[in-house]
Amino acid sequence: MLRLDLTNVLSERLGEQGLDWPGALAAHAQRLEAARDALWQRKSNPAEFLGWIDVPEDTETLRRVLRYREANRWVEDLVVLGIGGSALGAQAVGAALGKGPVRLHFVDNVEPEPILSLLRTLEPHKTLVNVISKSGSTAETMAAFLVFRQWLELGVADWKKHVVVTTDPTKGILRPYAQAEGLATFEVPPAVGGRFSVTCPVGTLPLAFAGVELENLLAGARKANEQARAALEHNLPAQTALINHLYSQRGKNIVVFMPYSTRLRYLPDWFVQLHDESLGKMRDRAGQEVRTGTTAVRAIGTTDQHAQVQLFREGPHDKLINFVRLLSPSEDLEIPAVRGLEALDYLFGKSFFELLDAEAKATAHALAKAGQPNYTLTLEKLDAYHLGWLLQHLMWQTAFLGELWNINAFDQPGVELGKEYTYALMGRQGWEALAQELRAEGVE
Ligand code: PA5
Repeated sequence: MLRLDLTNVLSERLGEQGLDWPGALAAHAQRLEAARDALWQRKSNPAEFLGWIDVPEDTETLRRVLRYREANRWVEDLVVLGIGGSALGAQAVGAALGKGPVRLHFVDNVEPEPILSLLRTLEPHKTLVNVISKSGSTAETMAAFLVFRQWLELGVADWKKHVVVTTDPTKGILRPYAQAEGLATFEVPPAVGGRFSVTCPVGTLPLAFAGVELENLLAGARKANEQARAALEHNLPAQTALINHLYSQRGKNIVVFMPYSTRLRYLPDWFVQLHDESLGKMRDRAGQEVRTGTTAVRAIGTTDQHAQVQLFREGPHDKLINFVRLLSPSEDLEIPAVRGLEALDYLFGKSFFELLDAEAKATAHALAKAGQPNYTLTLEKLDAYHLGWLLQHLMWQTAFLGELWNINAFDQPGVELGKEYTYALMGRQGWEALAQELRAEGVE
Protein backbone atom coordinates (compact mmCIF):
# COMPACT_ATOMS: atom_id res chain seq x y z
CA MET A 1 0.00 0.00 0.00
CA LEU A 2 1.15 3.55 -0.72
CA ARG A 3 -0.61 5.96 1.64
CA LEU A 4 -0.89 9.72 1.68
CA ASP A 5 -1.03 11.43 5.06
CA LEU A 6 -2.06 15.03 4.62
CA THR A 7 -2.72 15.93 8.23
CA ASN A 8 0.03 18.53 8.17
CA VAL A 9 -1.36 20.47 5.22
CA LEU A 10 -4.84 20.82 6.69
CA SER A 11 -6.07 24.12 8.08
CA GLU A 12 -7.22 22.30 11.25
CA ARG A 13 -3.52 21.68 11.95
CA LEU A 14 -1.82 24.61 10.21
CA GLY A 15 -4.29 27.45 10.54
CA GLU A 16 -3.75 30.05 7.85
CA GLN A 17 -0.97 28.07 6.18
CA GLY A 18 -3.30 25.09 5.80
CA LEU A 19 -5.76 23.96 3.16
CA ASP A 20 -9.47 23.35 3.32
CA TRP A 21 -8.84 20.00 1.61
CA PRO A 22 -12.35 18.79 0.71
CA GLY A 23 -13.12 22.31 -0.54
CA ALA A 24 -9.88 22.51 -2.56
CA LEU A 25 -10.41 19.09 -4.11
CA ALA A 26 -13.98 19.98 -5.04
CA ALA A 27 -12.94 23.37 -6.42
CA HIS A 28 -10.29 21.78 -8.66
CA ALA A 29 -12.19 18.61 -9.54
CA GLN A 30 -13.03 19.73 -13.06
CA ARG A 31 -9.44 20.72 -13.89
CA LEU A 32 -7.94 17.58 -12.41
CA GLU A 33 -10.42 15.32 -14.16
CA ALA A 34 -9.73 17.11 -17.43
CA ALA A 35 -5.97 16.67 -16.84
CA ARG A 36 -6.41 12.98 -16.06
CA ASP A 37 -8.58 12.36 -19.11
CA ALA A 38 -6.27 14.36 -21.40
CA LEU A 39 -3.20 12.39 -20.28
CA TRP A 40 -4.90 9.03 -20.78
CA GLN A 41 -6.27 10.08 -24.16
CA ARG A 42 -2.99 11.48 -25.46
CA LYS A 43 -0.83 8.55 -24.40
CA SER A 44 -1.11 6.72 -27.74
CA ASN A 45 0.38 9.72 -29.59
CA PRO A 46 4.20 9.23 -29.55
CA ALA A 47 4.73 12.98 -29.92
CA GLU A 48 3.28 13.47 -26.43
CA PHE A 49 6.04 11.41 -24.73
CA LEU A 50 3.57 9.56 -22.53
CA GLY A 51 4.99 6.14 -23.40
CA TRP A 52 6.09 5.65 -19.77
CA ILE A 53 2.45 4.99 -18.86
CA ASP A 54 2.38 1.74 -20.86
CA VAL A 55 5.96 0.58 -20.27
CA PRO A 56 5.08 -1.38 -17.07
CA GLU A 57 2.68 -3.47 -19.20
CA ASP A 58 5.52 -4.55 -21.51
CA THR A 59 6.40 -7.88 -19.95
CA GLU A 60 7.88 -9.16 -23.24
CA THR A 61 10.75 -6.63 -23.04
CA LEU A 62 11.25 -7.53 -19.40
CA ARG A 63 11.55 -11.21 -20.36
CA ARG A 64 14.27 -10.27 -22.91
CA VAL A 65 16.11 -8.30 -20.24
CA LEU A 66 15.96 -11.26 -17.84
CA ARG A 67 17.12 -13.69 -20.56
CA TYR A 68 20.10 -11.44 -21.28
CA ARG A 69 20.96 -11.33 -17.59
CA GLU A 70 20.74 -15.17 -17.38
CA ALA A 71 23.01 -15.54 -20.41
CA ASN A 72 25.66 -13.34 -18.76
CA ARG A 73 26.17 -14.94 -15.37
CA TRP A 74 29.91 -14.29 -15.68
CA VAL A 75 29.45 -10.57 -14.91
CA GLU A 76 30.77 -9.37 -11.54
CA ASP A 77 30.80 -5.61 -12.22
CA LEU A 78 28.31 -3.70 -14.34
CA VAL A 79 29.30 -0.17 -15.35
CA VAL A 80 26.49 2.11 -16.48
CA LEU A 81 27.65 4.90 -18.75
CA GLY A 82 24.77 7.36 -18.77
CA ILE A 83 23.71 10.69 -17.35
CA GLY A 84 20.51 12.30 -16.05
CA GLY A 85 17.52 10.12 -16.81
CA SER A 86 19.83 7.48 -18.24
CA ALA A 87 21.41 6.83 -14.83
CA LEU A 88 19.44 8.23 -11.88
CA GLY A 89 16.55 5.75 -11.83
CA ALA A 90 18.71 2.62 -11.82
CA GLN A 91 21.02 4.25 -9.29
CA ALA A 92 18.13 5.02 -6.93
CA VAL A 93 16.49 1.60 -7.17
CA GLY A 94 19.83 -0.25 -7.18
CA ALA A 95 20.90 1.43 -3.93
CA ALA A 96 17.53 0.66 -2.34
CA LEU A 97 17.02 -2.94 -3.42
CA GLY A 98 20.18 -4.25 -5.06
CA LYS A 99 21.08 -7.65 -3.67
CA GLY A 100 24.14 -8.39 -5.75
CA PRO A 101 26.26 -10.29 -6.36
CA VAL A 102 26.92 -7.97 -9.33
CA ARG A 103 28.26 -4.57 -8.28
CA LEU A 104 26.74 -1.58 -10.11
CA HIS A 105 28.86 1.46 -10.95
CA PHE A 106 27.59 4.67 -12.50
CA VAL A 107 29.75 6.94 -14.62
CA ASP A 108 27.60 10.05 -14.90
CA ASN A 109 30.25 12.73 -14.96
CA VAL A 110 33.38 13.47 -16.92
CA GLU A 111 35.68 14.25 -14.03
CA PRO A 112 38.80 12.25 -14.91
CA GLU A 113 39.95 11.16 -11.43
CA PRO A 114 36.86 9.11 -10.41
CA ILE A 115 36.80 7.43 -13.84
CA LEU A 116 40.46 6.51 -13.52
CA SER A 117 40.03 5.16 -10.01
CA LEU A 118 37.05 3.07 -11.11
CA LEU A 119 39.02 1.67 -14.05
CA ARG A 120 41.85 0.75 -11.67
CA THR A 121 39.50 -1.30 -9.49
CA LEU A 122 37.81 -3.20 -12.34
CA GLU A 123 38.90 -6.36 -14.11
CA PRO A 124 37.89 -6.17 -17.76
CA HIS A 125 37.09 -9.89 -18.19
CA LYS A 126 34.55 -9.69 -15.31
CA THR A 127 33.05 -6.34 -16.40
CA LEU A 128 30.02 -5.56 -18.53
CA VAL A 129 29.64 -1.98 -19.80
CA ASN A 130 26.07 -0.77 -20.39
CA VAL A 131 26.17 2.42 -22.42
CA ILE A 132 22.80 4.17 -22.11
CA SER A 133 21.85 7.17 -24.19
CA LYS A 134 18.46 7.72 -25.72
CA SER A 135 19.75 10.38 -28.10
CA GLY A 136 22.90 8.38 -28.71
CA SER A 137 24.91 11.57 -28.76
CA THR A 138 25.33 12.96 -25.23
CA ALA A 139 28.94 14.19 -24.98
CA GLU A 140 29.60 12.95 -21.43
CA THR A 141 28.30 9.45 -22.14
CA MET A 142 30.02 9.21 -25.51
CA ALA A 143 33.37 10.30 -24.05
CA ALA A 144 33.08 7.65 -21.33
CA PHE A 145 32.13 5.04 -23.92
CA LEU A 146 35.21 5.82 -26.02
CA VAL A 147 37.41 5.29 -22.96
CA PHE A 148 35.72 2.10 -21.72
CA ARG A 149 35.57 0.62 -25.21
CA GLN A 150 39.31 1.10 -25.60
CA TRP A 151 39.95 -0.27 -22.10
CA LEU A 152 37.99 -3.41 -22.97
CA GLU A 153 39.63 -3.79 -26.35
CA LEU A 154 43.01 -3.74 -24.70
CA GLY A 155 41.95 -5.98 -21.79
CA VAL A 156 39.86 -8.85 -23.21
CA ALA A 157 39.90 -11.05 -26.32
CA ASP A 158 36.33 -10.23 -27.37
CA TRP A 159 35.39 -6.73 -26.19
CA LYS A 160 32.03 -6.87 -27.95
CA LYS A 161 30.73 -9.45 -25.48
CA HIS A 162 31.40 -6.89 -22.74
CA VAL A 163 29.25 -4.07 -24.12
CA VAL A 164 25.47 -3.70 -24.19
CA VAL A 165 23.88 -0.62 -25.72
CA THR A 166 20.55 0.92 -24.64
CA THR A 167 19.40 3.59 -27.07
CA ASP A 168 16.60 4.82 -29.37
CA PRO A 169 15.56 2.23 -31.98
CA THR A 170 16.42 4.51 -34.89
CA LYS A 171 17.89 7.87 -33.84
CA GLY A 172 21.46 8.82 -32.88
CA ILE A 173 24.86 7.39 -33.71
CA LEU A 174 24.90 4.55 -31.17
CA ARG A 175 22.29 2.37 -32.87
CA PRO A 176 24.03 2.09 -36.29
CA TYR A 177 27.38 1.68 -34.54
CA ALA A 178 26.05 -1.15 -32.35
CA GLN A 179 24.52 -2.81 -35.40
CA ALA A 180 27.74 -2.54 -37.42
CA GLU A 181 29.77 -4.01 -34.56
CA GLY A 182 27.21 -6.68 -33.67
CA LEU A 183 26.77 -5.44 -30.08
CA ALA A 184 23.84 -6.49 -27.88
CA THR A 185 21.20 -3.76 -27.82
CA PHE A 186 18.06 -2.76 -25.97
CA GLU A 187 15.58 -0.02 -26.82
CA VAL A 188 14.55 3.18 -25.13
CA PRO A 189 11.01 3.47 -26.52
CA PRO A 190 10.78 6.65 -28.66
CA ALA A 191 7.82 7.97 -26.65
CA VAL A 192 9.65 7.67 -23.31
CA GLY A 193 11.83 10.57 -22.15
CA GLY A 194 15.00 9.95 -20.14
CA ARG A 195 13.66 10.96 -16.72
CA PHE A 196 10.57 8.78 -17.25
CA SER A 197 12.54 5.72 -18.37
CA VAL A 198 13.31 3.80 -15.16
CA THR A 199 10.83 0.98 -15.91
CA CYS A 200 12.16 0.37 -19.45
CA PRO A 201 15.58 -1.25 -20.15
CA VAL A 202 17.31 2.00 -19.16
CA GLY A 203 16.49 0.98 -15.58
CA THR A 204 15.56 -2.69 -15.81
CA LEU A 205 18.72 -3.97 -17.50
CA PRO A 206 21.18 -2.76 -14.82
CA LEU A 207 18.64 -3.63 -12.13
CA ALA A 208 18.33 -7.20 -13.42
CA PHE A 209 22.05 -7.59 -12.74
CA ALA A 210 21.56 -6.08 -9.27
CA GLY A 211 19.04 -8.80 -8.44
CA VAL A 212 15.99 -6.52 -8.16
CA GLU A 213 12.61 -8.26 -8.45
CA LEU A 214 11.60 -6.54 -11.64
CA GLU A 215 8.22 -8.19 -12.13
CA ASN A 216 7.22 -6.69 -8.79
CA LEU A 217 8.68 -3.28 -9.69
CA LEU A 218 6.51 -3.18 -12.81
CA ALA A 219 3.47 -4.52 -10.93
CA GLY A 220 3.86 -1.62 -8.47
CA ALA A 221 4.08 0.85 -11.35
CA ARG A 222 0.88 -0.60 -12.79
CA LYS A 223 -0.81 -0.02 -9.42
CA ALA A 224 0.09 3.68 -9.68
CA ASN A 225 -1.43 3.68 -13.18
CA GLU A 226 -4.62 2.23 -11.74
CA GLN A 227 -4.79 5.04 -9.18
CA ALA A 228 -3.98 7.70 -11.79
CA ARG A 229 -7.03 6.57 -13.73
CA ALA A 230 -9.35 6.53 -10.72
CA ALA A 231 -11.88 9.04 -9.41
CA LEU A 232 -10.24 11.94 -7.58
CA GLU A 233 -10.89 10.65 -4.07
CA HIS A 234 -8.76 7.58 -4.93
CA ASN A 235 -6.39 9.31 -7.32
CA LEU A 236 -3.23 9.77 -5.26
CA PRO A 237 -1.07 11.48 -7.92
CA ALA A 238 -3.84 13.97 -8.75
CA GLN A 239 -4.05 14.75 -5.02
CA THR A 240 -0.33 15.26 -4.44
CA ALA A 241 -0.13 17.32 -7.64
CA LEU A 242 -2.94 19.52 -6.31
CA ILE A 243 -1.15 20.04 -2.98
CA ASN A 244 1.99 21.08 -4.89
CA HIS A 245 -0.03 23.35 -7.16
CA LEU A 246 -1.88 25.08 -4.34
CA TYR A 247 1.27 25.75 -2.35
CA SER A 248 3.17 26.97 -5.39
CA GLN A 249 0.35 29.49 -5.82
CA ARG A 250 0.98 30.57 -2.24
CA GLY A 251 4.64 31.25 -2.98
CA LYS A 252 6.11 27.99 -1.71
CA ASN A 253 8.78 27.82 -4.37
CA ILE A 254 10.75 24.99 -2.82
CA VAL A 255 9.72 21.35 -2.57
CA VAL A 256 11.82 19.36 -0.14
CA PHE A 257 11.82 15.64 -0.90
CA MET A 258 12.88 13.79 2.24
CA PRO A 259 12.77 10.00 2.60
CA TYR A 260 13.45 8.58 6.05
CA SER A 261 15.78 5.91 4.70
CA THR A 262 19.44 5.67 3.83
CA ARG A 263 18.56 2.96 1.33
CA LEU A 264 16.48 5.58 -0.49
CA ARG A 265 19.39 8.06 -0.48
CA TYR A 266 19.49 8.41 -4.28
CA LEU A 267 15.72 8.68 -4.69
CA PRO A 268 15.75 12.46 -4.07
CA ASP A 269 18.34 12.86 -6.85
CA TRP A 270 16.04 11.05 -9.26
CA PHE A 271 13.07 13.13 -8.05
CA VAL A 272 14.96 16.42 -8.31
CA GLN A 273 15.68 15.75 -11.98
CA LEU A 274 12.15 14.53 -12.71
CA HIS A 275 10.53 17.51 -11.02
CA ASP A 276 12.90 20.32 -12.00
CA GLU A 277 13.58 19.38 -15.60
CA SER A 278 9.92 18.62 -16.28
CA LEU A 279 8.30 21.58 -14.58
CA GLY A 280 10.77 24.46 -14.84
CA LYS A 281 9.52 26.02 -18.07
CA MET A 282 9.69 29.50 -19.56
CA ARG A 283 6.67 29.13 -21.84
CA ASP A 284 3.30 27.46 -21.61
CA ARG A 285 1.79 25.36 -24.38
CA ALA A 286 0.37 28.52 -25.98
CA GLY A 287 3.85 30.09 -26.17
CA GLN A 288 3.18 32.66 -23.44
CA GLU A 289 6.03 33.44 -21.06
CA VAL A 290 5.02 31.89 -17.71
CA ARG A 291 8.26 30.77 -15.97
CA THR A 292 6.75 27.90 -14.02
CA GLY A 293 8.45 25.59 -11.57
CA THR A 294 9.28 24.94 -7.97
CA THR A 295 12.77 23.90 -6.90
CA ALA A 296 13.09 20.38 -5.56
CA VAL A 297 15.58 19.99 -2.73
CA ARG A 298 17.18 16.76 -1.53
CA ALA A 299 17.08 15.74 2.14
CA ILE A 300 17.38 12.46 4.02
CA GLY A 301 15.84 11.67 7.40
CA THR A 302 17.10 11.53 10.04
CA THR A 303 20.47 12.81 8.75
CA ASP A 304 19.16 16.17 7.58
CA GLN A 305 17.35 16.83 10.85
CA HIS A 306 20.86 17.78 11.92
CA ALA A 307 21.56 19.87 8.85
CA GLN A 308 18.51 21.41 7.18
CA VAL A 309 15.53 21.14 9.55
CA GLN A 310 16.59 24.28 11.44
CA LEU A 311 16.08 26.20 8.20
CA PHE A 312 12.86 24.35 7.36
CA ARG A 313 11.39 25.28 10.77
CA GLU A 314 12.62 28.82 11.31
CA GLY A 315 13.70 30.04 7.88
CA PRO A 316 11.50 31.64 5.22
CA HIS A 317 8.06 30.17 4.69
CA ASP A 318 8.85 29.26 1.09
CA LYS A 319 8.70 25.46 1.27
CA LEU A 320 6.47 22.44 0.98
CA ILE A 321 7.95 19.26 2.40
CA ASN A 322 7.25 15.78 1.07
CA PHE A 323 8.32 13.09 3.54
CA VAL A 324 8.58 9.46 2.53
CA ARG A 325 8.28 6.90 5.34
CA LEU A 326 8.29 3.14 5.58
CA LEU A 327 5.62 1.43 7.64
CA SER A 328 7.80 -1.50 8.60
CA PRO A 329 11.47 -2.49 8.44
CA SER A 330 12.77 -5.53 6.59
CA GLU A 331 14.91 -6.30 9.63
CA ASP A 332 15.43 -4.46 12.88
CA LEU A 333 18.05 -3.92 15.53
CA GLU A 334 17.41 -3.72 19.27
CA ILE A 335 19.13 -1.05 21.33
CA PRO A 336 20.79 -2.76 24.30
CA ALA A 337 20.74 -1.57 27.92
CA VAL A 338 24.09 -0.65 29.44
CA ARG A 339 24.69 -0.23 33.18
CA GLY A 340 26.18 3.17 33.96
CA LEU A 341 24.33 4.83 31.05
CA GLU A 342 20.86 4.93 32.71
CA ALA A 343 20.34 8.43 31.30
CA LEU A 344 19.72 6.60 28.02
CA ASP A 345 17.13 4.22 29.47
CA TYR A 346 14.42 5.69 27.22
CA LEU A 347 16.30 3.90 24.42
CA PHE A 348 16.95 0.59 26.17
CA GLY A 349 15.06 -2.30 24.61
CA LYS A 350 13.59 -0.14 21.85
CA SER A 351 14.40 -0.83 18.21
CA PHE A 352 16.18 1.35 15.68
CA PHE A 353 13.08 1.34 13.51
CA GLU A 354 10.99 2.62 16.44
CA LEU A 355 13.48 5.46 16.85
CA LEU A 356 13.52 6.22 13.12
CA ASP A 357 9.74 6.25 13.03
CA ALA A 358 9.45 8.43 16.14
CA GLU A 359 11.93 10.92 14.64
CA ALA A 360 9.97 11.10 11.38
CA LYS A 361 6.66 11.70 13.16
CA ALA A 362 8.20 14.15 15.60
CA THR A 363 9.86 16.20 12.87
CA ALA A 364 6.73 16.35 10.71
CA HIS A 365 4.67 17.52 13.70
CA ALA A 366 7.29 20.03 14.88
CA LEU A 367 7.37 21.53 11.40
CA ALA A 368 3.59 21.72 11.28
CA LYS A 369 3.62 23.52 14.64
CA ALA A 370 5.86 26.12 13.01
CA GLY A 371 3.33 26.54 10.19
CA GLN A 372 5.50 24.58 7.76
CA PRO A 373 3.23 22.50 5.49
CA ASN A 374 4.29 18.92 4.94
CA TYR A 375 2.76 15.68 3.76
CA THR A 376 3.93 12.08 3.98
CA LEU A 377 3.86 9.24 1.50
CA THR A 378 4.09 5.95 3.40
CA LEU A 379 5.25 2.72 1.80
CA GLU A 380 4.08 -0.45 3.51
CA LYS A 381 7.67 -1.65 3.19
CA LEU A 382 10.72 -1.07 1.05
CA ASP A 383 10.44 -3.65 -1.69
CA ALA A 384 10.29 -3.64 -5.48
CA TYR A 385 6.50 -3.48 -5.59
CA HIS A 386 6.19 -0.42 -3.36
CA LEU A 387 9.16 1.37 -4.87
CA GLY A 388 7.79 0.79 -8.39
CA TRP A 389 4.48 2.21 -7.19
CA LEU A 390 6.17 5.29 -5.70
CA LEU A 391 8.31 5.96 -8.81
CA GLN A 392 5.33 5.78 -11.15
CA HIS A 393 3.25 7.82 -8.69
CA LEU A 394 5.83 10.61 -8.84
CA MET A 395 5.90 10.48 -12.64
CA TRP A 396 2.12 10.85 -12.65
CA GLN A 397 2.31 13.71 -10.14
CA THR A 398 4.72 15.47 -12.50
CA ALA A 399 2.45 14.88 -15.48
CA PHE A 400 -0.58 16.22 -13.57
CA LEU A 401 1.37 19.33 -12.58
CA GLY A 402 2.37 19.85 -16.21
CA GLU A 403 -1.33 19.82 -17.12
CA LEU A 404 -2.31 22.15 -14.27
CA TRP A 405 0.35 24.62 -15.39
CA ASN A 406 -0.40 24.09 -19.09
CA ILE A 407 3.23 23.36 -19.92
CA ASN A 408 5.01 20.58 -21.75
CA ALA A 409 6.53 18.54 -18.92
CA PHE A 410 8.32 16.23 -21.34
CA ASP A 411 10.85 18.46 -23.08
CA GLN A 412 13.93 20.34 -21.83
CA PRO A 413 14.69 23.24 -24.19
CA GLY A 414 16.57 25.06 -21.43
CA VAL A 415 19.54 22.68 -21.50
CA GLU A 416 20.22 22.95 -25.26
CA LEU A 417 22.24 26.15 -25.38
CA GLY A 418 24.76 24.90 -22.83
CA LYS A 419 25.26 21.77 -24.96
CA GLU A 420 25.78 23.87 -28.10
CA TYR A 421 28.34 26.04 -26.31
CA THR A 422 30.19 22.90 -25.16
CA TYR A 423 30.37 21.62 -28.74
CA ALA A 424 31.73 25.01 -29.84
CA LEU A 425 34.34 25.10 -27.04
CA MET A 426 35.42 21.54 -27.86
CA GLY A 427 35.95 22.47 -31.53
CA ARG A 428 33.14 20.36 -33.01
CA GLN A 429 32.83 20.72 -36.76
CA GLY A 430 29.86 22.89 -37.73
CA TRP A 431 30.00 24.94 -34.52
CA GLU A 432 32.75 27.35 -35.66
CA ALA A 433 30.49 30.41 -35.81
CA LEU A 434 29.29 29.81 -32.27
CA ALA A 435 32.90 29.36 -31.10
CA GLN A 436 33.73 32.73 -32.62
CA GLU A 437 30.72 34.32 -30.92
CA LEU A 438 31.89 32.87 -27.59
CA ARG A 439 35.42 34.17 -28.08
CA ALA A 440 34.00 37.65 -28.78
CA GLU A 441 32.12 37.34 -25.47
CA GLY A 442 35.27 36.33 -23.62
CA VAL A 443 34.46 32.62 -23.26
CA GLU A 444 37.11 30.26 -24.60
O1 PA5 B 1 15.43 13.40 -18.85
C1 PA5 B 1 16.09 13.63 -19.85
O2 PA5 B 1 15.59 13.61 -20.98
C2 PA5 B 1 17.56 13.94 -19.75
O3 PA5 B 1 17.95 14.09 -18.42
C3 PA5 B 1 18.37 12.82 -20.38
O4 PA5 B 1 18.10 11.61 -19.73
C4 PA5 B 1 19.86 13.14 -20.31
O5 PA5 B 1 20.12 14.38 -20.90
C5 PA5 B 1 20.65 12.07 -21.05
O6 PA5 B 1 20.23 11.99 -22.38
P1 PA5 B 1 20.59 10.75 -23.28
O7 PA5 B 1 19.93 9.56 -22.72
O8 PA5 B 1 20.04 11.12 -24.63
O9 PA5 B 1 22.06 10.60 -23.30
